[in-house]
Amino acid sequence: MLQKKEKGMFKLNWWKDSVFYQIYPRSFRDHNGDGVGDLKGIIEKLDYLSWLGVDVVWISPFFKSPMKDFGYDISDYKDVDPLFGTLSDFDDLVSEIHLRGMKIIIDQVYNHTSDKHPWFIESRSSLNNPKSDWYIWKDPKPDGSPPNNWVSLFSGEKPLSAWEWDDNRKQYYLHLFGKEQPDLNWRNPEVKSAIFDSIEFWLEHGVDGFRFDAASHYYKDPLFRDALKGPQIKKSLFHSVRDEYYWDRFSARPESLLAAEEIKSFMDSYGEKVSVAEIPADMGLCLYLLFTIPGRFDIAFNIDFMEKLSLNAEKVRELSENVDAFFGERAWPSYVLGNHDNYRIINRLTDGMKVSEDEKKSIAKLMATFLLTIRGTPFIYYGEEIGMEDTDIPYDRIVDPWGKSLWPKKGRDVCRTPMQWNNGENAGFSETTPWLPVNPNKTFVNVEDETKDPNSILNFYRSLLKLRKDHVALRRGTMKFQDVPCGIIFYVRKTSKERVAVLLNFSSAVQCVDLTFDGKVLIGSHKESGEKFRESIELAPFESVVMDVF
Ligand code: NOJ
Repeated sequence: MLQKKEKGMFKLNWWKDSVFYQIYPRSFRDHNGDGVGDLKGIIEKLDYLSWLGVDVVWISPFFKSPMKDFGYDISDYKDVDPLFGTLSDFDDLVSEIHLRGMKIIIDQVYNHTSDKHPWFIESRSSLNNPKSDWYIWKDPKPDGSPPNNWVSLFSGEKPLSAWEWDDNRKQYYLHLFGKEQPDLNWRNPEVKSAIFDSIEFWLEHGVDGFRFDAASHYYKDPLFRDALKGPQIKKSLFHSVRDEYYWDRFSARPESLLAAEEIKSFMDSYGEKVSVAEIPADMGLCLYLLFTIPGRFDIAFNIDFMEKLSLNAEKVRELSENVDAFFGERAWPSYVLGNHDNYRIINRLTDGMKVSEDEKKSIAKLMATFLLTIRGTPFIYYGEEIGMEDTDIPYDRIVDPWGKSLWPKKGRDVCRTPMQWNNGENAGFSETTPWLPVNPNKTFVNVEDETKDPNSILNFYRSLLKLRKDHVALRRGTMKFQDVPCGIIFYVRKTSKERVAVLLNFSSAVQCVDLTFDGKVLIGSHKESGEKFRESIELAPFESVVMDVF
């Protein structure tokens, strides 16, 4: 909630002051005891979220779906899948969230539907049905092969064509993701109007905004030309096959930018809502900026930052300084440590290192401090606030289709395991065996125990969230990086009334930093609040400190 004195000043763009919390609904809390999380389960845990201090709850897809991509394959945009509950449960969820002064955003997946969506079933039924042009259908090449060399983004180490043959139409259809996720044809005005109809449906149900899945892929090259280089292994997180030049074929088309503008202006007619766009990191910041200059989407989910994060202070400083300089006053940045498509932050940062549980705890606090004090809207992925880690999933329990093609590399299941509420059976997530295994570290990484421990990661997050609310400089202030010894990141957030300094020791060595001001600790991973420093400050390995500056 905004402080009273700030109300007039910042009544616009509430989302710049907010902290978002992403819930993967299958894994948050299972209310009906079937091993899968649901909407009523989320309602049960809203007091926890409000205690924690989050402002906006983002719920990943809960719509009707055959669950081939766990809800990102939708078969009815306007209904809740029975696995998660009913539309009336959703309405209850919206009012319970609002009752607690929080907001809700939901996913909207409009690049593709499920192959079981009635639109696709009709479209594939013949060459001349009313929806025959609702998807992207193409004739084969004379030799029967797919119309071009585009590869699916769900390829593993081997290329998977983005085209699937349909025996009925004797044509290929395009699927940038799984073959059960055919791409919609945005160039057909009827498709667009059906999409806007569904956006309107959820706005009428009281949501405060949306996260638009694969938003830069809506429009494809109208000539369907071959991608320039052809498929090759992309050294990204999952090292999957991509095409280096795919972006000009099916990403960042100018028509997709216009779609962003249309969506934004449509949403504006419902008051101030927020639109968060999923834009791939392949083109780095340029694409983010293109999609989020005023009048387009409000926020691009910063996958680039998430994927490039490491414990190298100099690289991370450069990364965030670039974001800040690049966005400047042109657009508003976001920061993200993890999501449902990525390994958990602790695993990524400590991969290949020998670290103790105490060091992991300091690293989790270090990253939390960074996320919640940097200039931009922060997103927390469920469980991050208690230090959840990737869970080992044996091959026979892999459920993510992409995970199967990535094997023996870890897939996405590892970061989607049940929320660890307590140390009991199934970590308090469910009364029955959960859909994915619970991490054995639930014995000490869990909400119940961490709530009682004043030094836990959870209580640290909670204090940081409060600090951010109490200090306008941390939300809206400028950010200036200071020159410091190797391994340290040091910046000052400033408004005309406040100055807050943040010191982060990314190294495993004790470090001493000179201060040009007198400071008092507001929050520290190792130091007590209220401790004063002048001239210099010593930082323990992976220590983080936020200070009031005089
Ligand atoms: C991005 C989502 O985050 C991911 O989970 C999903 O598989 C693809 N888009 C396809 O919808």
